[in-house]
Amino acid sequence: MPAVFKNASEDWIHPAEASVEEVIETVRMCPSGALTYTVEGKTEVNQTNEISIRIVKNGPYEIQGPVEFESPKWSINASKTNFALCRCGKSGNIPFCDYAHGEQKWDDEK
Ligand code: FES
Repeated sequence: MPAVFKNASEDWIHPAEASVEEVIETVRMCPSGALTYTVEGKTEVNQTNEISIRIVKNGPYEIQGPVEFESPKWSINASKTNFALCRCGKSGNIPFCDYAHGEQKWDDEK
C-alpha cells in the first residue's frame, strides 16, 4: 500500500491515505510482524499456533508461530510469533530484517 507506507521517507506511515479497513487488512498481512494497529486502546498483534519458517526470495526468513527466539533486540510491541530474520546481512537491526534487502535490491543468487 504505497500511498500509506512510504519506504524512503522518515515520516513513512500516512494512515489517512486509505480507509481504516484497508490499513488494518494491510497490517494483518505484514510478514515481519513489525506493523501493528490499536483499536480503542488495545493493540492487535497477529497470533498463530502453527509454526512455519519461509525463505523469502531475495528477502528474509519469515517466522510464524510460537517459537522461542532469544534476542536482546525485541522492540516494545514486537510480535514474537510473527517476525522476519535478516538473510542478507544488510539490516541495521540484525538479527531482524529491516527491509534493507529491498532498498539495496539484494539478490540471493549472487
Ligand atoms: S533480509 Fe531484510 S534486511 Fe536482510
